[in-house]
Amino acid sequence: MCGIVGYIGDHSAVSILLKGLQRLEYRGYDSAGIAVLEEGELAVFKKEGKVANLISQLNGTGLHGSIGIGHTRWATHGVPNDTNAHPHVSEDGKIALIHNGIIENYLTLKSELKAKGYHFQSETDTEVLVQFIADVYRNSDVDFAESVHLALQRVIGAYGLVILNVDEPDQLIAVRKGSPLVIGKGDHAHYIGSDASPFLEYTKEVIYLNDDEIAVVKRDSISITDSKHKRVSPYFERLDLELDAIEKGAYDHFMLKEIFEQPDRLRDCMRGRVLAQSGEVKLGGIRSYADKVYHAKRLILTACGTSYYAGLTAEYLFEDLCRIPVEVEYASEFRYRNPVLSEDDVLVAISQSGETADTLVAVELAKSAGATVLGICNVVGSSIARATHEGIYTHAGPEIGVASTKAFTAQLIVLSMLALKIAGERGTIDQRKKQALVKELQVVPELIEEVLDHAGRIKQIAQKYWLASNFLYLGRGYQYPIAMEGALKLKEISYIHAEGYPAAEMKHGPIALIDAEMPIVVLALKDKAYDKVLSNIEEIKSRHGKVIAIISEGDEAIKAQVDDWIEIPAVLEYFAPLVSVVPLQLLAYHIGIMKGCNVDQPRNLAKSVTVE
Ligand code: F6R
Repeated sequence: MCGIVGYIGDHSAVSILLKGLQRLEYRGYDSAGIAVLEEGELAVFKKEGKVANLISQLNGTGLHGSIGIGHTRWATHGVPNDTNAHPHVSEDGKIALIHNGIIENYLTLKSELKAKGYHFQSETDTEVLVQFIADVYRNSDVDFAESVHLALQRVIGAYGLVILNVDEPDQLIAVRKGSPLVIGKGDHAHYIGSDASPFLEYTKEVIYLNDDEIAVVKRDSISITDSKHKRVSPYFERLDLELDAIEKGAYDHFMLKEIFEQPDRLRDCMRGRVLAQSGEVKLGGIRSYADKVYHAKRLILTACGTSYYAGLTAEYLFEDLCRIPVEVEYASEFRYRNPVLSEDDVLVAISQSGETADTLVAVELAKSAGATVLGICNVVGSSIARATHEGIYTHAGPEIGVASTKAFTAQLIVLSMLALKIAGERGTIDQRKKQALVKELQVVPELIEEVLDHAGRIKQIAQKYWLASNFLYLGRGYQYPIAMEGALKLKEISYIHAEGYPAAEMKHGPIALIDAEMPIVVLALKDKAYDKVLSNIEEIKSRHGKVIAIISEGDEAIKAQVDDWIEIPAVLEYFAPLVSVVPLQLLAYHIGIMKGCNVDQPRNLAKSVTVE
């Protein structure tokens, strides 16, 4: 979603801001803008569309100011256009503001301001916010930071804000509530970002702001106060992140890079946590709540999108191995139901970004009902990681492609480790079985490498089907959530309509869609559902549907029954989703590319969905 970058230092701000905006493009956006303090005045440039449009607009302007803010906007209030783009500026032209999040009571504030004679150019909640802050500043005798603090007392909603005021030209104000902000310490300079990516090449020393904290950021100092005006000592952390983690390197697209780096990222995720020799699983992140977790009466897995499918897959695993009742819930549904929760429940929130608004609210809801809440997040220090009691990081590295790939498989690895740990502690699997499973889990990265070695074949299959306008994905048992995930990947990346279904449900409706034009991806591995899935393939073929089957290596018999097949190496049913999803990621990628789609930044999508 929206992205923020800010700079105060000795260098010209424009190139730093523009480069920062390019690094934020992965989050998904539809307009971009910057404001730079230039000889005592604000120079503001905003453009609908890509950052490249903004760069063209700035060509030849020769701006040299050394303090500025920049923003990529993902439209919520008002269409994507130049006027609605950020920064927004107060009517007197003195205050510029960029905003991630949503101001819920903006209509009330807007009508109050209109009654006072203010005019508005845009349809956004953000312009209301900047006018409101300017109004409080003008009508109070406190300094600007205090005015921001006072104004925000009236504001309901979520925000990460960076504000520039010509009256106080040597500082930026950064403030957050529910939307992340990170400040980087440079040499006689500071950087601000919605994440660290816009300034990673300049510094790795960062401070993550907490909710309700206001930071006054100058070239050489930062002063932070909390909502009660208490001074907070800035706590710098060193980012464990290299620049190449957020660059494409030799790959054409981030999505492809992230698909191919899965074996290594999964090894990173397991490193030090699974010990093949002893069959031990060590999850330091859940140490303090271990007893609660091992003796949970029920597990509730909650998430959105692809992360939800990781939860759905894990339901099979937890039930099989741990014999615990499991519920898997879309966070957006869970939060608005009246869920029956108790202190014996453990809720596991799964989120790559750790910022998904619905998942975050589900976490708060479960916590307030007394449940133990764990997080499985990729982004270290993210809101969900901080809001949960404890958790396990996926350590997949930054995921820049909007469509989740490596974060999904890393979530599956973490959930597998958790299931093995719980099963061992509860005694629902014996030591020998646990040891065998741990060994198998450790081999998964190699198995994925084997699939990646045959990526060329998947491209050829994509070539045959990329013009289809509908796809069906079918799977059963552990492979049912993977069918859902495969379909989601295809629609996100190629804009082809695709549906995932449990294979046996086909005859209860979707079978009506099948004709000679319809490609159906069937996950037909040699697991306990194999024979049943073969019957489904027969049903499809007798209606002339085209079957692309994901099959177990060496299954020669099935090859004659299907139109196309992709083999995956033999793997235990429990961990097969980790391997079978990879060809589906590649299929979606190649079809997207053949259709000329922007696979890294598909239309309308955002990387972290911080609004509900
Ligand atoms: C799909 C995708 C989304 C996310 C969903 C949840 O490729 O990326 O469906 O999985 O928006 O996001 P996180 O995991 O950040 O909570």
